[in-house]
Amino acid sequence: MSTNQRVLIFDTTMRDGEQSPGASMNRDEKIRIAKALEEMGVDIIEAGFPIASQGDFEAVQAVAKEIKTSIVCGLARAAKGDIDRAGEALKPAARKRIHTFLAVSDLHMRVKLQMTREAVLQAVTDSVTRARQYTDDVEWSGEDSTRADHDFLCRAVEAAINAGARTVNIPDTVGYTVPDEYHALIKMLKNRVPNIDKAVISVHCHNDLGLAVANSLAAVQAGARQVECTINGLGERAGNCAMEEVVMALRTRKDHMPYTTGIKTELITRNSHLVSTITGFPVQPNKAIVGANAFAHESGIHQDGMLKDASTYEIMTPESVGLRKSNLVMGKLSGSRAFRSKLEELGYKLGDNAVSDAFKRFKDLADKKREIFDEDIIALVDDSVVRENDRIKFVSLEIVCGTKIAKPTADLELEIDGVVKQTKATGDGPVDALFNAIKQLTTNTQHMQIYQVHAVTGGTDAQAEVMVRLEENGKTVQGQGADSDTLVASARAYVNALNKLLVKREKSEPAALRA
Ligand code: KIV
Ligand code: ZN
Repeated sequence: MSTNQRVLIFDTTMRDGEQSPGASMNRDEKIRIAKALEEMGVDIIEAGFPIASQGDFEAVQAVAKEIKTSIVCGLARAAKGDIDRAGEALKPAARKRIHTFLAVSDLHMRVKLQMTREAVLQAVTDSVTRARQYTDDVEWSGEDSTRADHDFLCRAVEAAINAGARTVNIPDTVGYTVPDEYHALIKMLKNRVPNIDKAVISVHCHNDLGLAVANSLAAVQAGARQVECTINGLGERAGNCAMEEVVMALRTRKDHMPYTTGIKTELITRNSHLVSTITGFPVQPNKAIVGANAFAHESGIHQDGMLKDASTYEIMTPESVGLRKSNLVMGKLSGSRAFRSKLEELGYKLGDNAVSDAFKRFKDLADKKREIFDEDIIALVDDSVVRENDRIKFVSLEIVCGTKIAKPTADLELEIDGVVKQTKATGDGPVDALFNAIKQLTTNTQHMQIYQVHAVTGGTDAQAEVMVRLEENGKTVQGQGADSDTLVASARAYVNALNKLLVKREKSEPAALRA
């Protein structure tokens, strides 16, 4: 396969994905996702927006220190301060990229930037030139490109490449375009921008009309060779192009689209679960590739076909996305060595402390649940490892409730910044009592918007996975928790959301943090 058939995968789960209302990631969570993306073969990892907050800066810097093979990228507006901050955060990276952007549609230039076309062109040149002082690998994006005047877009792309941009990104910022129109736009740029062969054309599609993946594929067919995407399609508003979908479409329909990516697709399911646990965004059951029903066959006719030959109703194998048959794995007699080798088989590379924490939780679970499946281990490990460095940690819970009790009571212990605190609270039901107890030990300024429970596996002894969405001053966060006891899972989910709220509060108070 010639090199120009290779499509680069640029993951922006930790930047555009983090802009999803409710999603936020702290430094350690970003390091964990970045390592998973690197292992998966992602070419470029956009780790954040360093000027946005001290926390963002430190997260990008930490990812830059850890990641060796993927390129680590930081976002910057067309402003000196932004670019310098991105350059500083990326200093430790083995391979780094600065991604600078400026709006190019007349609407955005007039209303948002209040800049003339000429001033925007000058700013494109100045910002790319400044970014090149930090690295040769500079990407320029024309925000709202799909609603821009074509002549002006050509001039802006040409100016960016002349100033040294190696990648030019043509975002469909508001998810407005449709496949044939986007295809024509990329072709138009290839035909009209004189220096276009000096840069890789990248695409970045939002999913407002549900067309992000289709638009990205149309652009690849027109000559784009970088696709910007996120795990589970996370992102602003309706989200971004879903990595698992675009990659599997290219792999499954190679007959029609002869392109390759460097993605190890067998890691898709595991990383989808990891991102879902970290962000608190559950994956809808009918989501393509990674939804719980994506490879399930309900109707008798389909089941009959599947028994005869799986290719009757499956266009890709579950194994190709890392989905394994539900494996009965272990029970209460399984030892730590067997547990460690199970973790390795599931693709986890954990340090000794993390393995022993996870083993302790596994033993607790095995005391309560007779049969433990791979899904249980994945839920448990993602839940405990991801929470390792949280400031607020769940310690214990006792609930008294039932028809003979006038008011359910929750007796709760939390560890807050290393100190164990205990309280009792009542409520209208056991969940209400529990959440009142958490508020007594923490803060009461947040409101609960969503509380959802689902079972990780079948059976009445299945682990519960709980999702909680909290809102405070217009900002939302989502938390997840898993346990065989639904109320403990609820406590873990609420506490997880609170830890995210701490990150969000920090992001909205950058000045206070720097002081
Ligand atoms: O959607 C968009 O235009 C962006 C740019 C910063 C690339 O996210
Ligand atoms: Zn975007």
